[in-house]
Amino acid sequence: MAYRWKNDLKDADVTDHALFLNRRQLMAGVAGAGLVAATGGPRAAFAQAALEPNSFEDITSYNNFYEFGTGKDDPAKYASKLTTAPWTVTIDGLVDKPGEYDFADIMAKMTVEERIYRFRCVEAWSMVVPWNGFELKDLLDLAGVQSGAKYVAFETLYRPDEMVGQKFPVLEWPYVEGLRLDEAMHPLTIMATGIYGKDLPNQNGAPLRLVVPWKYGFKSIKSVVKITLTDKEPPTSWNVANSREYGFYSNVNPNVDHKRWSQATERQIGGGLFAKRIPTLMLNGYEDEVAGLYDGMDLSVNF
Ligand code: MTE
Repeated sequence: MAYRWKNDLKDADVTDHALFLNRRQLMAGVAGAGLVAATGGPRAAFAQAALEPNSFEDITSYNNFYEFGTGKDDPAKYASKLTTAPWTVTIDGLVDKPGEYDFADIMAKMTVEERIYRFRCVEAWSMVVPWNGFELKDLLDLAGVQSGAKYVAFETLYRPDEMVGQKFPVLEWPYVEGLRLDEAMHPLTIMATGIYGKDLPNQNGAPLRLVVPWKYGFKSIKSVVKITLTDKEPPTSWNVANSREYGFYSNVNPNVDHKRWSQATERQIGGGLFAKRIPTLMLNGYEDEVAGLYDGMDLSVNF
């Protein structure tokens, strides 16, 4: 049984039928490239209703990927240098089957589907992205999570020869992130491997990156090479850089301002020069699905 997080949405709610058909073709293209694609069926109906995705151009030309520089256009300029094949992901720590997992082998075992998610950066801009990917839970299940595990730590590739920004101490390298195990196992949490049915462009974190749609974008760590199951809260890059401003949880929350700016509204990328800011939604619009993860927690303390 496929998980359906918005059961009020039906196939007919998909706004643009032509786009939907086109997407199925794109997915077929993905399958041709050796990936398992879910076309049709309930999983493809993770509907997308009111969400209008940003253009491929927006999503791939306005990026944060400090390993390639701090300018929004640096990743698109410099990330082509990154070699993404072969690629392995080390999964270790509290798992039954620790080891180096080859990306192609992972893809052969995973179910890739499309997820159109809101994406909200802590800098108060946002996009809507049609990701292709698989649930992180399926990958963790492959490795066999042991009962003592409470957190999942992630690490990006460290390769300064190809990642020019790593020559500068902007952050401590490699970039690291973490989730609580229940957040990592939530069906909304995916490892993205594509956008609009195409392989993930390097500037977006090829060949695979985390996407946690109810958290600020910096939690969605790119170009992942290591996943460690642990019983301790792992360090996270932005918290290490500035713990006053960036917490471990980093849930999108319009009621908890950043120390230097409001988080109540956001600027939609692609909206043009005179686009109005829109209100930021609690947990980025995924409150019904994930608020239960934080029952009894003060989100202004655990920001
Ligand atoms: N992952 C790594 N390794 N390095 C980074 O600099 N930036 C984060 C996140 N993941 C970043 C990263 C931030 S701040 C954001 S907003 C998103 O990636 C941006 O993702 P996008 O460029 O695909 O929109």
